[in-house]
Amino acid sequence: MSRPGDLWWKSAVVYQVYPRSFADSDGDGIGDLVGVIDQLDHLVELGVDVLWLSPVYRSPMDDNGYDISDYQDIDPIFGSLESFDRLLAATHDRGLKLIMDLVVNHTSDEHPWFVESRSTRESPKRDWYWWRPAREGMSAGDPGAEPTNWRAAFAGSAWQFDETTGEYYLHIFSTRQPDLNWENPEVRQAIYTMMRWWLDRGVDGFRMDVINFISKDPALPDGRALASGPYADGGSHYVCGPRIHEFIAEMHREVFADRTEAVLTVGEMPGVTVDEAVLFTDPARAELDMVFQFEHVGLDHGDGKWDVRSLDLRDLKASFGRWQAGLADVGWNSLYWNNHDQPRVVSRFGDDGADRVAAAKTLATLLHLHRGTPYVYQGEELGMTNAPFATIDDFRDIESIHAYDELVAAGRSPHDVLTALRAMSRDNARTPMQWDASKHAGFTTGEPWIAVNPNHVEINAESARSDQGSVFHHYRRLIELRHTDPVVVHGDFTMLLPDDEQVYAFLRRLGDVELLVVANISTDEVTADVPEADAWARSVLVLGNYPVSKLLVRDIVLRPWESRVYRRA
Ligand code: NOJ
Repeated sequence: MSRPGDLWWKSAVVYQVYPRSFADSDGDGIGDLVGVIDQLDHLVELGVDVLWLSPVYRSPMDDNGYDISDYQDIDPIFGSLESFDRLLAATHDRGLKLIMDLVVNHTSDEHPWFVESRSTRESPKRDWYWWRPAREGMSAGDPGAEPTNWRAAFAGSAWQFDETTGEYYLHIFSTRQPDLNWENPEVRQAIYTMMRWWLDRGVDGFRMDVINFISKDPALPDGRALASGPYADGGSHYVCGPRIHEFIAEMHREVFADRTEAVLTVGEMPGVTVDEAVLFTDPARAELDMVFQFEHVGLDHGDGKWDVRSLDLRDLKASFGRWQAGLADVGWNSLYWNNHDQPRVVSRFGDDGADRVAAAKTLATLLHLHRGTPYVYQGEELGMTNAPFATIDDFRDIESIHAYDELVAAGRSPHDVLTALRAMSRDNARTPMQWDASKHAGFTTGEPWIAVNPNHVEINAESARSDQGSVFHHYRRLIELRHTDPVVVHGDFTMLLPDDEQVYAFLRRLGDVELLVVANISTDEVTADVPEADAWARSVLVLGNYPVSKLLVRDIVLRPWESRVYRRA
């Protein structure tokens, strides 16, 4: 089944704004919607097509807005429905689309649905959430009496005991993010009604938060024990659970199927496999346009994300190669390095020292030349880096703070935990956008809610926009290439040199046109030993990050973090 305007997003590039950290227009230290309006021309100059706005709904901000207490209002720290409408109009005036974050696996504990649900066991909304008594034979509130042994994503048990009614509720994330019960058709209808309301208001689609967690096995079995700690991984009972495709297809029928406008739907899906992703994104099944998978951003995790390992380039190639192949004929990839949950890619997989500019450009080239829809996270286009957090007091994120408390209590040294947080904390993505070299990087005239990275004096949008050799202009050229060369969008993909530990190389082909992408993921000088290297070396260089002379060239010798895109027809 297809709908009008279908597949426009295949040639689009999406830019994610995390409003809290983007631009503050009123000096309270927190970014807001008017701030986004003020900076829209930055996105226009970059050339992106779609703006994805992280949650701006009314929220107690336990998880920075991923805990929603009113789906149909804007939180006053960000603005109002009136400023939202102005942003939407300003976005559309510039030829951009705007997609909202949709967080419907859970609500805030302050959402009126939950307030009512928790008030008595007889509440008509009781069954809108997952309430269960204590484990059989145990007393509610006792250690180990939780209904299942599942661990919550932000530490501790996934069940919270509630004194009022003497039962537990399920929260896969924080205790203030109770999970909605999608088994209940009233819940689903309430959500679809709300989604239609936003589409009627003019938004162009949704990024759906952990949407593959909405179907749980209603038997709620215990999970597999984890390497450490008292709780277990319940994922096999809620990641792509038994009714997930039924729910997503129903959502499509109820919300999207009859719309005449061109919308975009992308499902965030931790733990999704290639085979599942094909099912979710097969247009004939009418579920979603694309999904965010997590495989490549887990390659530097050991026993969890706080056990940091260095990346083996061969693993990265194997992972991307598998996803490219798996979605080659049916379905579609989304491509990302960064978002508000990931550390900055130039620090993580690149080099944020002397080779920062070359590394940021090369990582961008690799991602944007794969087949799929690329996502750029605010500041990525400047080569923004991880932050120099000194102590635990510098962190703001609930996940980082809970992890610190839990790991230190379990005996890991504070120094060791801080080292892991510095590498992996989500706060690395959340330091304010670096607009200029002034105090607080031009983000706010007040005190920022989280410290600005001191390197903003060097790394900032103002200087990047005026320097044709900047990371910003490299992203701009990559986006333009996608818009002008159909091989980037539609070409097939062949990974080369899968066993090379330093070179990442691949081919794209559409009819008689071929692109070769070669990249040096190291600080050594390396020779890219690709087939027909001498012929390629004399073909058209579409894009690179170093000056290249073609005189007498036979090999492709790459300098530290050098990358090139060659084209032949
Ligand atoms: C995924 C979001 O990207 C993350 O920021 C959030 O904490 C969880 N889902 C819970 O909503």
